Amino acid sequence: MYPIKRNRRLRTSEAIRSLVRETIISPSDFLVPLFVVEGKGIKEEIASMPNYHRFSLDLLENEVKALWKLGLKSVLLFVKVPDNLKDNKGTEALNPNGLMQRAIKTVKNVCPEMLVMTDVALDPYSSFGHDGIIENGKVINDDTVEALAEMSLSHAEAGANFVAPSDMMDGRILAIRETLEDEGHVDTGIMSYSAKYASAFYGPFRDALDSAPADVKDIPKDKKTYQMDYANRFEALRETEMDIDEGADIVMVKPGLCYLDIVREIKNEVDVPVAVYQVSGEYSMLKAAAEKGWLDHDAVMMEQITAIKRAGADVIASYFAKDVVKLIS
Ligand code: PBG
Repeated sequence: MYPIKRNRRLRTSEAIRSLVRETIISPSDFLVPLFVVEGKGIKEEIASMPNYHRFSLDLLENEVKALWKLGLKSVLLFVKVPDNLKDNKGTEALNPNGLMQRAIKTVKNVCPEMLVMTDVALDPYSSFGHDGIIENGKVINDDTVEALAEMSLSHAEAGANFVAPSDMMDGRILAIRETLEDEGHVDTGIMSYSAKYASAFYGPFRDALDSAPADVKDIPKDKKTYQMDYANRFEALRETEMDIDEGADIVMVKPGLCYLDIVREIKNEVDVPVAVYQVSGEYSMLKAAAEKGWLDHDAVMMEQITAIKRAGADVIASYFAKDVVKLIS
């Protein structure tokens, strides 16, 4: 009871604050998303993601080495697929010499110890910008799941350590797990985007990969028939528990900041590592506000990352990973 108990005693100096701090951010918290493009000598800034770039494979090598030097040991690969290779079925996704497959090998080649995770979803390969195959104006589930399992196998064969299905089709984790097991890839892990919400925060990412749903007659203009309704909470638990039952090694909540209630809830319920994806729109929002001088970039960045970890994230996928690690080292 006050004045015997004075809570401010534990806040009197940075030394005592750091001594009793509950949440510490370190390089090993992060999974670094990387955008890859065809070509040579390309390091191009994404217009809606200041200071974030797409790399061609040759320059990806330098980036990966730089990450490793900073103590960032896990990457999540995304590819920007040329328009002429896109179709409804995402056929190019299975090309053993496709950009993703070459990107995996490139990273493993320059940095064998780097943990390589790959995005598994059809949208960058789809002429309609959807995460699944379209039939009669609908994104169909089961044929898409087959394609995702094949795609996962192709990534595993190219050397991926983890596949990360980001599509939200039903039953895909089991199908992927079975396919990997059948083909002997018993050590290839699955990080499932389990509670992935239909969010407007993905806009800049879709610019980065040119993967937004196409404005075509009779084709869904959004992803609400597969990604979750952001009004829902129990559904997130159901999705996550099913993915764990189907064989997910790591589960994910996405986006980050607006969904930390869900993160905490899932963290309290499950016994596998929980990842959180602080998505493109969250990154761009802070960059824009900082450019205008309205927010202190580094301070807000650290507050946000710490909040994500405090909420229960074991893994943080974030475009700020490099900025954070440079700041804290
Ligand atoms: C696509 C995918 C998306 C993101 C990761 N994988 C976009 C989407 O679902 O439309 C978003 C990541 C971000 O915004 O940073 N399967």
